Amino acid sequence: MKKQWWHNKIAYQIYPKSFNDTNGDGIGDIRGIIEKLDYLKELGIDIIWISPIYKSPFVDQGYDISDYYSIAKAFGTMEEFEELLAKAKKRNMYIVMDLVINHCSNEHEWFQKALSEPDGEYAGYFYFEKGKNGNPPSNYRSYFGGSVWEPIEGTDKYYLHSFAKEQPDLNWNNPKLKKELFKMINWWLDKGLAGFRIDAIMNIKKNLDFPDYQVDGNDGLTSITKMIEESSGIGDMLQEMKHETFEKYDAFTVAEVFNMREDEVEDFIGDDGHFSTMFDFSAHSLTFGEHGWYDSKPIEFNSWRSAIFESQTRCQGIGFLANIIENHDEPRGICRYLPEYALNDAGVKMLGTTSVLLRGIPFIYQGQEIGMRNCHMQNIEEYNDIDTKNQYYSALKAGLSNEEALDVCYVNSRDNARTPMQWSMEKNAGFSEGNPWLKVNPNYLQINVEAQINDENSILKYYQKLISLRKSEEYGEVFIYGDFCPAYLDKDKVYAFYRKLNDKKILVAANFGQDDVALELEKENKEVLLSNMGRKSLPFGTTLTLKSCEVVVVLYLK
Ligand code: GLC
Ligand code: CA
Repeated sequence: MKKQWWHNKIAYQIYPKSFNDTNGDGIGDIRGIIEKLDYLKELGIDIIWISPIYKSPFVDQGYDISDYYSIAKAFGTMEEFEELLAKAKKRNMYIVMDLVINHCSNEHEWFQKALSEPDGEYAGYFYFEKGKNGNPPSNYRSYFGGSVWEPIEGTDKYYLHSFAKEQPDLNWNNPKLKKELFKMINWWLDKGLAGFRIDAIMNIKKNLDFPDYQVDGNDGLTSITKMIEESSGIGDMLQEMKHETFEKYDAFTVAEVFNMREDEVEDFIGDDGHFSTMFDFSAHSLTFGEHGWYDSKPIEFNSWRSAIFESQTRCQGIGFLANIIENHDEPRGICRYLPEYALNDAGVKMLGTTSVLLRGIPFIYQGQEIGMRNCHMQNIEEYNDIDTKNQYYSALKAGLSNEEALDVCYVNSRDNARTPMQWSMEKNAGFSEGNPWLKVNPNYLQINVEAQINDENSILKYYQKLISLRKSEEYGEVFIYGDFCPAYLDKDKVYAFYRKLNDKKILVAANFGQDDVALELEKENKEVLLSNMGRKSLPFGTTLTLKSCEVVVVLYLK
């Protein structure tokens, strides 16, 4: 593998609306990010991905962009953004923005022009299609529920939206549109951006015949993913984008890729791949329900471990995955992957260790480093997310009671990860002096940065140590370039692997079970590099007994 500047970096995702509000309007802002740069530096972060801060009507929290060239007023000004870039650079940190180019907002001027002239030039920036026999052009269900086709008033046409109807899909078959997008990407890179997180990118390639598929739900529709999975040729589009933009700047790109064929890893993240890296969603995908959140499945340890280990093995020697336990589209990772008995400091540290020391680029989501948890909402009005509301109503429709539907949201809602960052014990967790746009999790009195920053045993301090071990001069190379080799697969509830490079060998072993478990170690001399239970050395002999929720990182000495 060719060495790249971003191989040894640690990334952190900021959900700006909920990160830090400095002017009391209840919404996090750019100034708030600037204020916390030192906090992130201290944690060991190099790359900061900021979810969308472009101008937007916020139907889907900024993933509906109405002007790609301006910053939403609620977040601040372009000058403040430039200040952020400069201050990050001064600290050797890199800023990465979200790139949402499968769709824009219905308030974008392109779409407004298209509506006012449905046969004109701008209609060609979108998918304006005639219906079939009085029906929409096809029977696809959008990701947020309902048909992907919305009638265009005063015409016999419909426009396509893979997500909400306020997010019309952009037509990537139109060379003019592509040129506009590439120009915009380069404009940001010229400003000094280090790269992009690329949103929902697999959706840009469509089958232009829009064939119907067999209905798969009681709404008479079928998931749009079938059409997406059957369309081929996305590679050419992605390569063109890369050559016209990212490549010229040596930019870092991390893509949101679902539905990739297994034999395409190299095309996507190999040396000449479309992207630097892509998220590993193999664990998240295990929870998908057939009809939605109401029939989503809990994580079962063995399938979870296999999913991650398979992804790791598949990408070995080809490229780097971006490893996460959560993001702004998922509930909190500790609530999803840890059983009830492990929802404690030790368990949280254990899960963090097994994620951060995998092969790939670690991404930490805001609040993960202090063990933030899912948030109980009393009623559906307390939620804000468009997807959560849709999922709630479809759960009711499927026969669940109000309480059951709320439980489903508690387990799955994206708002679980979007509640304000818990900085301190002060009002609103120190996030805002005004009225936060989304409820603050009442557990902020126990879980907050201020309480943890001076406590040597806290989750936050542990994350600092974990990251600094990963980046250390002695072992950094092993964690970056070392092979990933599964270990102790025959042991129930043990999540263990080696990282190996040349003559260095490091074992990461965690006990996700409720009982002690004994592992037979190899005879060589060894040393403990990190432990979540204060273990300083290994017992005499070769048997290591791990307590429930214990993780240990062991160096084998040659
Ligand atoms: C991606 C984003 C998600 C958004 C969707 C539509 O999945 O991560 O938050 O709702 O794309 O842009
Ligand atoms: Ca604000």
